[in-house]
Amino acid sequence: MIDLRSDTVTKPTEAMRQAMAQAEVGDDVYQEDPTINRLQELAAETMGKEAALFVPTGTMGNLVSVLAHCERGQEILLGDNSHVFYYEAGGASVAGGLVYHTLPNDRMGMIDPNLVAAAIRTPDIHFAPTGLLCLENTHNRAGGTVLSKAQIDELCRVAHSRGIPVHLDGARVFNAATYLEIPVKQLVENLDSVQFCLSKGLAAPVGSVVVGRKEFIGKARRMRKMLGGGMRQAGVLAAAGIIALTEMSQRLEEDHYHAHRFAESLALVDGFEVDLETVQTNIVAANLTEKAGTAADWVARLKANGVLVGAAGPRRLRFVFHNDVDRADLEKTLSVIASLAG
Ligand SMILES: Cc1ncc(COP(=O)(O)O)c(C=O)c1O
Repeated sequence: MIDLRSDTVTKPTEAMRQAMAQAEVGDDVYQEDPTINRLQELAAETMGKEAALFVPTGTMGNLVSVLAHCERGQEILLGDNSHVFYYEAGGASVAGGLVYHTLPNDRMGMIDPNLVAAAIRTPDIHFAPTGLLCLENTHNRAGGTVLSKAQIDELCRVAHSRGIPVHLDGARVFNAATYLEIPVKQLVENLDSVQFCLSKGLAAPVGSVVVGRKEFIGKARRMRKMLGGGMRQAGVLAAAGIIALTEMSQRLEEDHYHAHRFAESLALVDGFEVDLETVQTNIVAANLTEKAGTAADWVARLKANGVLVGAAGPRRLRFVFHNDVDRADLEKTLSVIASLAG
């Protein structure tokens, strides 16, 4: 099977498996796991922040960040197409007593800074005070699109000028930095906290990291414990994470190249509409014309022909390129699609 459903399907590399087998471990709730400590130090340094915290998932990374930034009864500002709003089971409301205040994401995943400025609450006993602005880069539902440093900085400027911190759901922030050809540290410079995933394009089996100021990470650590995410000898996971962070973050250009190459050919297939401007990183989203049939149909037909893809809407398919997909897989997928479309 060629699996293009997500980059989360990547299997750990041979080097990761060896590092996992040999990892030195300790009890991380006591902060005594040397491999986790090393991953956290490396992550903080790479992102240019004071401290870092290893968490089991991106969802938990975002949730502990939101809980560490906000108090019960506050609002978080975020995109109406964001992962935190769409796919994280309402965790900020359930666990934090927070209100989601959504603002429109444009087709590139950007939020208009003027809308952010207008949405930040003024002091008034009727309002739930604004506690946080949450951004996403790359933007998953927009199709892996990238916010530039200037766009992030402008949103940070607006929020910070009103005393509001800014968190980045950077599940794929290394893809964004690769696309922009700047060090990730520079891209996230003005953000107060970032969550990034080791287990997506970076191919680790498990794990994400949250970075920010020391005091914030201290709070996030308590929230992680509260949510049941205090792990013990998880250095076996962090060992793979170190390879993800240091080595696999350097190869994402290859996935982007595959995605571009695929998108350009797919756009020529009858029944498929691809907005090539949104194909910036490793994700290709394609809309199906009325005549071409539904996404569910295509998912089933492709599966029967050895290709797994995701449906991102009733007439929208999603193809994600990653470490376990090579050029031959790409060509095979295109030829299967061409034969089914014809
Ligand atoms: C943008 C974004 N944020 C957060 C997550 C959540 O990560 P996890 O599946 O590790 O909880 C994902 C997962 O696909 C994602 O795409």
